Amino acid sequence: MQSQTLQIAFQVYPSSDALLPVDRELLVAARRALENSYSPYSHFKVGAAVLFANGETLGGANYENASYPMCICAEQSVLSAAASRFPLQPVLAIAITVRNPQKMVSSPAAPCGACRQVICETEQRNGHAMRVILQGESGPVYVFEKGSDLLPFAFAGDVLG
Ligand code: THU
Repeated sequence: MQSQTLQIAFQVYPSSDALLPVDRELLVAARRALENSYSPYSHFKVGAAVLFANGETLGGANYENASYPMCICAEQSVLSAAASRFPLQPVLAIAITVRNPQKMVSSPAAPCGACRQVICETEQRNGHAMRVILQGESGPVYVFEKGSDLLPFAFAGDVLG
């Protein structure tokens, strides 16, 4: 028997002011995208924005449904739109932010497990790591160098072929 330990490195910035301009702008785009959240059931707004290798950006928000399991997360919304908009452009980074009208979210909200799986799939498809930038409505920002850092032991398509 052998014990193994995984370590995940990430950066903690006290606020978005301390970020690199490119990451700060992507977070602003995510916050703008959040305004288009369709969330009449949870009232929880999530915004995400991606940066492509060609410098373009694209935003998306969560899109709920009266049939609750059909709710689409912001990350999945923007990553599927990204694959249609610029299918050959690697996604270099994704910024994710949230707003809960019932309480101030002052720490970063992490993407759900399904969204992490979609982020990993996009990285594999693109052959490129995606920086993940997380912030609540305010407060510190976490930056992960790659999406797969958020999903150790992800299920990957290479076992299928
Ligand atoms: N949501 C996201 O958009 N991304 C996540 O990673 C987790 C949850 C959305 C889905 C639903 O519209 C609302 O947040 C509450 O779960």
